[in-house]
Amino acid sequence: MNEYYLDHFNAERFLAEYWQQKPVVLKRFFEAFEDPIDENDLAGLAQEADVDSRIVNNISGNWHVEQGPIDDFERLCKGKWTLLVQGVDKYIQDVAPILTPFSFIPHWRLDDLMVSYATEGAGVGAHIDQYDVFLVQGKGKRRWRVGKPGNYEEVFPHPKLRQIEGFDPIIDVVVEPGDVVYIPTGWPHDGQTIEDSLTYSVGYRAPDNLQLAESLAMMLDKGEHNIRFSDPNRATQSAPFVVSPHDVAALKLQLIEAINSEGFTRSLLEAMSEQGIPEYPLEPEVSLEQVSNEFAAGISFVPAAGVRALVSYGKQGMPKALFVNGTQFDFSSADREWFEALASGDVLNATVCEEAPSFTFLETLTTLINNGYWEWFEE
Ligand code: SIN
Ligand code: CO
Repeated sequence: MNEYYLDHFNAERFLAEYWQQKPVVLKRFFEAFEDPIDENDLAGLAQEADVDSRIVNNISGNWHVEQGPIDDFERLCKGKWTLLVQGVDKYIQDVAPILTPFSFIPHWRLDDLMVSYATEGAGVGAHIDQYDVFLVQGKGKRRWRVGKPGNYEEVFPHPKLRQIEGFDPIIDVVVEPGDVVYIPTGWPHDGQTIEDSLTYSVGYRAPDNLQLAESLAMMLDKGEHNIRFSDPNRATQSAPFVVSPHDVAALKLQLIEAINSEGFTRSLLEAMSEQGIPEYPLEPEVSLEQVSNEFAAGISFVPAAGVRALVSYGKQGMPKALFVNGTQFDFSSADREWFEALASGDVLNATVCEEAPSFTFLETLTTLINNGYWEWFEE
């Protein structure tokens, strides 16, 4: 055992010593792990046009990648092959419990759950990811090797496959059902399947400045805070070709003021709540009256697969609002408990809060149901 193994998981210690700092093996993180899906479920998803999937295979040393939708598994599942499906949490509700133990990281950082099924000897080769990931081992056994960040030569054995030549492992471990390997951004890794195996990758996102600038542009595009440079009372200067540091500072300040605006806070929260949830609007639409009546009659509702709402409490320039997949729903202090109940993702019915639900809450719930983000709970 060394610094890359943690026997008794503790979220505080993990955040202080490992998160975004170094990889770690968490043996038996899940006790008595049971796969919520199997390779047939994955194959079913991979046939869908709106699901991001691929098959990576290696036949006698030659790599091949086929992007989904996959229609001919017999042709593609040859050699040492891996089927990878992105965003499984958005399609299959049953995988949600795999994400729950990682709730010590806020929902806005979570990107999706990717699931792979790999046959004996298979893997996608040594590579580096841009995102942090918890690799949860399902059925089967896999050997994971992880190296230190460095300047590794990139290779493309297939145009759609980015790998690196190799690395010296600082972790070399065989994982079994319920084990987890955490790998921060930039640490090279390679998983080789020992026994036909399912791997659940809990992947995180971290916006770069370009993405933040896109959120800013979204706000400016709506005309909010899109002020124009002005320079009354200009001082004379030595020559017209000189750009003064004062002018550049004024231009930067103009943008900084837009960044500091409440409009940009809203735009950011919209982007942070954006999940790329597939839109399944309800047809025909349900009315506010119907939802109110059903709610009063004790009927329960739940978020659709993968929907993770965010809440901000109206402090320090933040709106008091619920955000769902890029849309803001304002609420008042009196409604806080009900909106928290929505954001919790738990089963929602008339008994979960003491106060009676308000018109605003029922109206929000109705909109969420009509947009396909909440649905009737079926036990
Ligand atoms: C896999 O599940 O085979 C690939 C996961 C990864 O290395 O990112
Ligand atoms: Co990876």
